[in-house]
Amino acid sequence: MDQEIVEEILHLKKQKNAIILAHNYQREEIQNIADFVGDSLELSRTAAEVKCDVIVFCGVHFMAETAAILNPEKTVLLPEIDAGCPMADMIDGEKLKKWASQYPNTPVVSYVNTTAEVKALSYVCCTSANAPQIVKTIPFSKVLFVPDKNLAFWVMRNVPEKEVIPWDGFCPTHHMIKKEDVLRAKKQYPNALVVVHPECRPEVIELAQHVASTSGMVRFAKSSTAKEFIIGTEVGLIYRLKKENPDKAFYPLKKTMICPNMKVTTLESVLVALREMKYVVKVPEDIRIRAKEAVDRMFEFYKPSSK
Ligand code: 13P
Ligand code: SF4
Repeated sequence: MDQEIVEEILHLKKQKNAIILAHNYQREEIQNIADFVGDSLELSRTAAEVKCDVIVFCGVHFMAETAAILNPEKTVLLPEIDAGCPMADMIDGEKLKKWASQYPNTPVVSYVNTTAEVKALSYVCCTSANAPQIVKTIPFSKVLFVPDKNLAFWVMRNVPEKEVIPWDGFCPTHHMIKKEDVLRAKKQYPNALVVVHPECRPEVIELAQHVASTSGMVRFAKSSTAKEFIIGTEVGLIYRLKKENPDKAFYPLKKTMICPNMKVTTLESVLVALREMKYVVKVPEDIRIRAKEAVDRMFEFYKPSSK
């Protein structure tokens, strides 16, 4: 059954000159049919460079929106229109304007996990792979950082020379991890290195041997001589880690680290998306132009040597 669906997806993909981009947290079968699997930064880069007419984005809404911001001439499809990001929804344009008005002449750095409206009000965007580097490089000594307070704390730790004022947002999937969870996992797997995502609480980051974006974790696992790793991010990444490192062991820091929004996309929904060309994600042109400036600025400041 799945094989039939896969074949039809591949056929439609060719017919419509489409490509499939998938985030590292997507279901295994989605990762397997994707043309490219990566973290938010890699997916934005790929979306900016790819040659095709249609992009099927297997991820959450802000990711498809970022692809649409970068590709107004392409059709960007999000197979499950309700696949959102609760953290991105913790701030909107109105809230940001009101908050930022208390800090005149202070630029807004927005995590890519934001709506296009919030990006349009930002000076620059960043992802978990380059947030410290972006804040370090931009020519301002004080910044407002939205929406993830944990990523903001990670930036503060790495860029102590700058003042970072965080918005009070968080990712429910990463924020639920506490110090005790790390201590329990370390006790269970005493030989494993602890690798966590910067969306985790500072107390969790404190106990980790390595902190990186999802693709940064993949690179770290490949290059490390260690054989066992406790992985502190959404469990979907474990599939890719195991596939690319069959001789190493990966344990989820907590099995309940699941982002439900990243799991709603199925082979069936990708097939329907391509067949019926839905759901088209489009950003109003005035917002798109301003949001693109913030995303483009991220690419200008980003140096690929970062995690
Ligand atoms: P990265 O894959 O960019 O590390 O982001 C994690 C995430 O939570 C995306 O929603
Ligand atoms: Fe949003 Fe967290 Fe899910 Fe990523 S893992 S999409 S940040 S809720």
